[in-house]
Amino acid sequence: MTATESVTRQLFAEFVVPNYDRYDVVLVRGQGSRVWDEDGKEYLDFGAGIAVSTLGHAHPRIIEALDRQARQLIHTSNLYFTRPQAELARKLVEIVGSPGKVFFSNSGAEANEAVIKLARKFGNECAGSPSGDKPRFEILTFYRSFHGRTMAGISATGQEKVKEGFAPLLAGFNHLPFNDLNAVEKAITGQTVAILVEPVQGEGGIYAASREFLLGLRSICDRHGMLLMLDEIQCGLGRLGNWCGWKEIVGGADFVPDTVSWAKGIGGGFPLGATWVRKRKIQRLAGGTVDLCDLLQPGSHGTTYGGTPLACATSSAVLETIEREGLLANARTQGDYAKRKLAAIPGIKEVRGLGLMLGIELGAELGTLGASGKTPSQAVAIELMRNGLLAVPAGPSVIRWLPPLIVSREEIDQAVLILSKTLAAMVS
Ligand SMILES: Cc1ncc(COP(=O)(O)O)c(C=O)c1O
Repeated sequence: MTATESVTRQLFAEFVVPNYDRYDVVLVRGQGSRVWDEDGKEYLDFGAGIAVSTLGHAHPRIIEALDRQARQLIHTSNLYFTRPQAELARKLVEIVGSPGKVFFSNSGAEANEAVIKLARKFGNECAGSPSGDKPRFEILTFYRSFHGRTMAGISATGQEKVKEGFAPLLAGFNHLPFNDLNAVEKAITGQTVAILVEPVQGEGGIYAASREFLLGLRSICDRHGMLLMLDEIQCGLGRLGNWCGWKEIVGGADFVPDTVSWAKGIGGGFPLGATWVRKRKIQRLAGGTVDLCDLLQPGSHGTTYGGTPLACATSSAVLETIEREGLLANARTQGDYAKRKLAAIPGIKEVRGLGLMLGIELGAELGTLGASGKTPSQAVAIELMRNGLLAVPAGPSVIRWLPPLIVSREEIDQAVLILSKTLAAMVS
């Protein structure tokens, strides 16, 4: 039975909103870096649920944490204190390495929504602009960026395709060329309040910010009294071989962001979003000072589910396991190894990225594969899947490899072999 004939496929056609272009496969089981479909076919999962399943599938420590916490307390709402949320917040502040506090939500879009609201509140209520004390609201973001699918998220995103059909968008975003400090300097007006940036752009095709760019953004924000907000939803918490993606880029430089957004890998597959906010004194327009991390007071923002005991206990288990199993080092070692192997495959123009966040730019010979209505990267991803490898397109000509951080050298060798055979067959 193919997926097209399966009951699952029929139920989807009748009952599920068709807003995703799904691959023709019904996945039923996973173990480690592999998943299986309903016909028993095995796949190497180098998409990891789009950079989510950091410990792979069915990791015993995730199962144990879920089981233990589910028996104790799954949900309470944020009307009450719960220990797992407090412990996870402490761990995340420790990971950033600078004083701050954490707000919990359920997804990446929500983690960014929180920083967008924080920037608005900061712009409306706090002094900071050397040009005066008028409210400021504009946030600078970058072309090719992706910040989520809420109205604020698509307004922040620097890609037209996500905005089509949803006008009017949220006002107050200006998109600029990535890695171009001059453009940023020129764009700042008396209304500009913050910069939101992915240290490595993911959905846009895997483009890393340069060290100079990140350091320059910090200095621009300091000079203009603006917030520097990092979207580490895809590149953070280990994927680049470092807890903090930006630290992998700026090295030992003295660099502290004002906010960090996380989601995806934070729960190893269990939904969770988190936003770190820096402890830093700011001046209120109405007089007096407040710490930035205390600006969102009761009634200003919230979510029923954000940071449930179940989500937080699971996330803590994921972060502990990354530490215990040395997975930051593994991400770096296997990522470097994969990069070298991939660069030698004919048909690949360029391999970009850091750690286990790799973008494989397809060569021009694969650029004519769009006849089926699919982009070259979609056509290649479909063929890879047929050959037993799941990978995710990013834009028309890039295939992303985002394997679990537990991936082994043997699994990378196997994936490299599948990719090289697939590309060779497609161009012949
Ligand atoms: C950098 C970045 N920001 C935000 C998001 C949105 O996250 P979510 O899909 O969990 O809402 C994504 C998702 O791909 C992302 O890669």
